[in-house]
Amino acid sequence: MTAAGGTADVPARLLVRDLAQLVTPAGGGSPLRGGALREVDVVEGAFVLCDGAHIAATGRMRDLAPFPGDVLELDARGLSAVPGLVDCHTHACFAGDRVDEFALRASGASYEEIHAAGGGILATVRASRAAGEQGLGKAVLHHRSWMLRAGTTTFEAKSGYGLDRDTELASLRAIAAAGGAPTWLGAHAVPPEYPNADAYLDFALAELLPEAAELAEAADVFLERGAFDAAQARRFLEACREAGLVLRLHGDQFTEQGAIPLAIELGARSVDHLEATGDDGIRVLAASDVVGVLLPASALFLGRPMPRARELVDAGAAIALATDFNPGSAFCESLPLVCSLACTQLQLAPEEALGACTVNAAHVLGRSGRVGRLATGYDADVVLLDARDWRYLAYHLGGDVVQGVIQMGEVVQER
Ligand code: NIG
Ligand code: FE
Repeated sequence: MTAAGGTADVPARLLVRDLAQLVTPAGGGSPLRGGALREVDVVEGAFVLCDGAHIAATGRMRDLAPFPGDVLELDARGLSAVPGLVDCHTHACFAGDRVDEFALRASGASYEEIHAAGGGILATVRASRAAGEQGLGKAVLHHRSWMLRAGTTTFEAKSGYGLDRDTELASLRAIAAAGGAPTWLGAHAVPPEYPNADAYLDFALAELLPEAAELAEAADVFLERGAFDAAQARRFLEACREAGLVLRLHGDQFTEQGAIPLAIELGARSVDHLEATGDDGIRVLAASDVVGVLLPASALFLGRPMPRARELVDAGAAIALATDFNPGSAFCESLPLVCSLACTQLQLAPEEALGACTVNAAHVLGRSGRVGRLATGYDADVVLLDARDWRYLAYHLGGDVVQGVIQMGEVVQER
């Protein structure tokens, strides 16, 4: 991958030329469902022309007409291009780590046992409160650099490791400052200073929601045994909807607690996890507009059953794939690895995996039409894969498959 032809100032245009393949999921309605999720356009011997932050044209090299003016050319022989990846579910705003807990789990302790003993999410709450706004800001930038190296050009990140006024609001600001889409996970766990979930929600909705709603795009709740029950999740989400936030839920991670019917009833954008979803859940989700966000790295990391992705897609559900990047249940920022898991564990085709972490993930973040495809007018976010066949994205398990990353028309990552 070599660049030539630019002037000292970055030229407004960047021509990525001689790509072995250029690949983009189908256009049309977003999110893609059923057979449409499998449709990708593959152009062999291709180029992509970026003009400033947007894609000006894509096509076959042999149709590339000469054009006047300054352009930086990038020789992409032997590489293939896919859209910049979109990670629509991360918890990238945290301080510290949980490597000790990881080691305990490796010798048999369960995630739920560790959580019940005051570890788990609450351990990261202690570390994140102590880090303060500066520390959290640095942490998000650090985590963003990992994501970018793995090809993620658009990411969502949740608060939820503060659970007090200062740290929740600082988390949302840090995420936005790093260019992420901030989600207020105001109901993640009950912090120790409250006697129960309802008392914590009294505080969160009265004292935090008004400002969180100014900073965040969406709200999220952990609906699970030991976290928030369906009535509490409903109370939280209804208040957040009233404040103008898009709704999302962590649901059916360990047990079914009514997350899917609640998500549908409240008009949520997504319900995420679904490792424990049964037949009825699959059927009703498929008939709804709610996207099922599947997080196979989390299932793998915790040794849990995988979500029933094949059945969801075949039933007509809209699905997206994301990392769930966080220090406890998925210390993994790599969407290429998630695509590998999708193909090896979820029985999805590489085309379906690509659509799920590009266009469909963009829809979850309210960014469809802007990111997730390599098409004229979209943001100039491109991942260059070190392979002549784009399916190496999923095929190269844990491999160093990302050769370069272009974000808003600029080469931001190169190896
Ligand atoms: O999506 N399940 C709830 N929240 C996160 C995990 C957070 C943590 O363990 O720190 C999840 O898996
Ligand atoms: Fe999560």
